[in-house]
Amino acid sequence: MNQICAIIGGGDMGHGIAEVCALAGIDVYLKDIKQEFLDTAVAHIRTSLDVFTRKGRVKAGDVPSILSRIHPCLEYGAISPEVGLAIEAVPEIMALKKKVFADLDKILPKSAIIATNTSNLSITELASATSRSGSVVGMHFFNPPVLMDTVEIIKAKTTTVETFDLARFFVSKIGKLPIPILKDTPGFVVNRVQAPAQVLLGKIVEHGVATPEQVDALARKVLPMGPFETMDYVGLDIVKHGMDYFAEKLGKEYATPRWIEDLVAAKHLGKKTGKGIFDWSSGRPQIDLSNPTDKFTMLDLIVVQINEATKIVAEGIVEDAAYIDVAIANGTGNKMGIFGMLSDRQVVIDRLTHLADTLHIEMFRPTAMLSTMPVPNMRKASKRLRQEYLELQGR
Ligand code: 3HC
Repeated sequence: MNQICAIIGGGDMGHGIAEVCALAGIDVYLKDIKQEFLDTAVAHIRTSLDVFTRKGRVKAGDVPSILSRIHPCLEYGAISPEVGLAIEAVPEIMALKKKVFADLDKILPKSAIIATNTSNLSITELASATSRSGSVVGMHFFNPPVLMDTVEIIKAKTTTVETFDLARFFVSKIGKLPIPILKDTPGFVVNRVQAPAQVLLGKIVEHGVATPEQVDALARKVLPMGPFETMDYVGLDIVKHGMDYFAEKLGKEYATPRWIEDLVAAKHLGKKTGKGIFDWSSGRPQIDLSNPTDKFTMLDLIVVQINEATKIVAEGIVEDAAYIDVAIANGTGNKMGIFGMLSDRQVVIDRLTHLADTLHIEMFRPTAMLSTMPVPNMRKASKRLRQEYLELQGR
């Protein structure tokens, strides 16, 4: 694969991925539809590089050459005909993404791979907008791409083995651990596992059990960022798209809570608009850590995720159940993964039964697999994936 890539969409994910590529020595054509979007994207990259320079991760003298590898552009015609890989990172609207795919299909060399950073949508359906469905693949980065260590590589129904391998190779070359996802299903692994937790968090707020700040204060005892702050960080519009999509594809119980719909309707989307669940107008929200809730435990968030993870294992979406833990540990702030709790499986089953009965949410009903599956070995799986990553890097 040629070491020149194109990224379509300069939002948080697009400019973050562009920065990761440029840091790895790859030339990037970063396309958006308005000059102001491109200017903001480049300004964010500069700020991020400043932080890395201050921290000694990047040499100050290298910054100009890193920036020179990023080629902002407004037209497809400005993109080099040598591009070997294009990654689309435009808003989560199927019709829009399909249009981008069709446009890319027209301008890119036949040998180029077209990837999507979609959070949830069907990659197989996106591939149908091109004449090269075998060369289409999912490359799902986590926000912020420069700090999160992993990328889910998703095989659409049409993706060829060669494309899948090249995608894993590329991601390794840019310093991210590729997690192979064998089936193109809504939310892939990490977002799907987190979906029931979002439903539960939605209910907690809806029923007035605790405020987002009280929940995040509790979560911050074990996580670098609480779940509500993370929703704001990712963008409530993206959270809503995801939940709406899950509701359509997996069942109504996954639907977006009304209070999130209201925030989105009011354009309070989180970090990117300065206000969401929290106030971001002066940077990261100041969460009052002195008042964590005692009406809810982190165990509840973990058990609903384990339950969903067993469904992913049953559907054959990953080769090894422990890959789910590796993806969570490297793609989110939760470094412990979730399956470790299975060593106390009766506690997990009892708590899920209680949540399903009291909240009347059937997706929380414990799966049969919870009683039978061995506790996945995250350490061993992580070691195996790291070994593969090093081999791909050295290729
Ligand atoms: N570039 C360079 N440096 C950055 C940066 C960036 N874009 N963003 C933050 N940093 C730096 C900060 O400046 C800070 O530097 P300092 O130590 O010198 O002050 C350092 O990174 C740590 O940042 P913070 O002090 O703000 O706080 P944290 O220690 O909490 O780290 C975080 C930030 C890595 C974002 C951490 O809070 C975290 O892991 N949060 C969870 C994020 C997460 O779960 N992401 C996945 C969301 S799901 C997703 O993306 C999927 C999609 O499909 C929806």
